[in-house]
Parts: sequence; structure tokens; C-alpha cells
Amino acid sequence: MNKITLSVIKADVGSIGGHTKPSDKMMDLVKSQIAAAVEQKIIIDGLATYTGDDIAITMSHRRGINAPEIHQFAWNCFLSATSEAQKTGLYGAGQDLLVTAPAGTVKGAGPAVAELEFERDNQNKNRPAEAFLVFTADKCGPGSYNYPFYSVFCDPMHDGGLLLNPKMRKGFVFTIVDMDCKEGDRFIKLEAPERSWDIAALLQNPDRFAIESIHSRYAPEEQIVSVSATRLHNIAGKYTGKDDPVAIVRTQGIFPAPEETVEPFMLGHFVTGGARGSHVMPLMPVAINTPVAGPYCLPLIALTAFSMDADGMFSQEYIDMFGNVAWDATRFKIQQKAEEWRRQGFVGPTMASHAELSYTGIVDALAALEKEFIIRK
Ligand code: 13P
Ligand code: MG
Ligand code: MG
Repeated sequence: MNKITLSVIKADVGSIGGHTKPSDKMMDLVKSQIAAAVEQKIIIDGLATYTGDDIAITMSHRRGINAPEIHQFAWNCFLSATSEAQKTGLYGAGQDLLVTAPAGTVKGAGPAVAELEFERDNQNKNRPAEAFLVFTADKCGPGSYNYPFYSVFCDPMHDGGLLLNPKMRKGFVFTIVDMDCKEGDRFIKLEAPERSWDIAALLQNPDRFAIESIHSRYAPEEQIVSVSATRLHNIAGKYTGKDDPVAIVRTQGIFPAPEETVEPFMLGHFVTGGARGSHVMPLMPVAINTPVAGPYCLPLIALTAFSMDADGMFSQEYIDMFGNVAWDATRFKIQQKAEEWRRQGFVGPTMASHAELSYTGIVDALAALEKEFIIRK
């Protein structure tokens, strides 16, 4: 069996002039470490991109999920980019590296991790070709994938493949994680389409519940989706930056097609994030390697489409999906949506929920005001 693992590990370790983008020098350092890791056969192939201030490293290897060598390698890349950020006085140097040294996996140490493993075989009847997408988002939380992935895997209004492809008609298994649980990984598995209203009831609250993975029911061993569904404020105990989640989605054949998977991103759905991670803002699809420069840090999402050969190579050529002219009108519309929404300032739903704000300084202001309240009898 030719098992390949795909790992996407990302972190914000410093950016120019605020939370905008990592410096070219930081990216060069990461890229040269990737080249060395390929040479040393730590990984098969790898690619570094940035979305806003987050560096994402996409890697293929044969070491399995949660492999300490892979996680340590990504951590080391982030450490050297951090030193460069410190040296050049960049903002938030080492921001997402929340422990001094991670034990094995970097999960729970700050960086976001999405991983999945599959058999890569050109003769495999389900997956003779391997096409996959890597989403990288900035200025938002892991629940940002709830709306689009529910639409793609549960709703034929947004994914005609659910009606047209008999292999997709068998449905999917959603693993949904309770991100508020600090004692361990609290999750639930629900089958679509039968339980799609139960799935919806949970995904309605993207601050607490996020899709962690989706599996095929036609070929149950096949994992289709992996999302980095962890919350930085649960690790740090306070607001240190937004989670800025990454996701892998395998596409085509027995899975949704890329053109179906991107359809929900035309909406510019509202997500928790934006400035200080404390607002509700629409999510804008952008080209890979786009800095954040908009008012209130309009949340961004980039998308890269890859094909992988039987040896696990994928980075020779790839498609910058949202960088295409097809998304220009969407961007314009979302910018207008954001501008209209921002006119409401701080009142009510334009700011994040109180559960989210409880990790920010507003808690102290409200606690101080408590003492000045009077009850009129
Ligand atoms: P990042 O999580 O992308 O660093 O953004 C944090 C922030 O507070 C932006 O205003
Ligand atoms: Mg930042
Ligand atoms: Mg970020």
C-alpha cells in the first residue's frame, strides 16, 4: 500500500506594518528549509504560501498523521521565520508559537494543523487520480468552514453533484468538534443526509462547533475533508490572535468537484474575525499570497488546487483558484457588503458574540461598570 499523508501546518509568526503579511525574507527562509527537507527525505514534497499574516506549509510524506518529525519540521520553519521577524522589528513575531517546545505534535501549541492520509495508487478504482484543494484563511475562526462545507456536502441547491453522482448520493459522515471543551477532543459523528438538520443545529454556532473532518460513505476508508478546528484562546486563555484555519478537501471522482466546492464562497458569508478577531465580517476569496490591507481586516480566504502523482509530488504546478478573474465581481460585492455592514459600528451583531469577546478586554470594562449599576425598586 502506497499511503501518503498530506499535512498543512500554518502559523502567524510576524508581519510587516501590522497584521498584513510575512516578509519575503521570512518566506525565503521557510522555502529553503522545505527544499532541504525534501533533499533529506523528511518530506516528499512541500510548498509555502501566505494568506494575510499566516504562513502555510503544505507537505506530502509517508510518516502518517501527527508525525513528530513533520510537526517538528514545521515548528522549526516557524522558529527561523520568527527570528527573522524579530531581527527586522516585524509585528507579532512568534505570535502563534504559544509554547517553548511542542511535545511531538504541534496541535495545541498554537499552529493550525489539517492532515489526512490516503492510498495513492493509479490503479485504485475509487481514486486513480488525486486532486485536492488547500484552503488558507486569515482573520477568522475555524467555524468559517461550517457554511460552505455544509452547503457542499448536504445541500443539492449548492452542489448538484449530490443529485448527479450516485457515489456521492450515498452521503457522508461529518465529525463535528466542540471547540469549547478544554478537557479533551469532544466530538460527534453524524451521517448526511439523514442527520443533516442535526448537523445544521450544531453548525449554526460556528464559535463553538466546527467541522473537523468529512468521510465518504461510498468508500468509508476515504477521508475527504480535514479542518484545523482548534481555538487559540483555549490554549492561551486570552485573545492572542485569530485561529485563521486551514482545510484540505480532496475532490473529483467519488467526491465533490472543485467547481462545486467553491460555489458557496460567492456569498461572502459572515464569519467571526476581522479587526482584533472580535467582529463579524464577510469572508472574501483572494489570490494566494495576498496581504491584509482592508478596513477592519476584512477576513480573507485563498485556495490552491493541486494534483498529486503516485510518488506524492504535487507542487510542480498548481492553480490559484480565487486568484482568477472569475472572482473579481464577487470580491467587489463582498467589499461593498463589508462597507455597508461597518456603518453599524459596534452595536449588536457587527461585533463578535459575548462568548468570543469574553477573551478580550471588554470583560474588565463591563466588570468595572457592574459596580455602578443601581436597582430601582
Ligand atoms: P491575526 O490573528 O491574523 O494575527 O489578526 C489579529 C488581529 O487582531 C487583527 O486585528
Ligand atoms: Mg497576526
Ligand atoms: Mg492571521
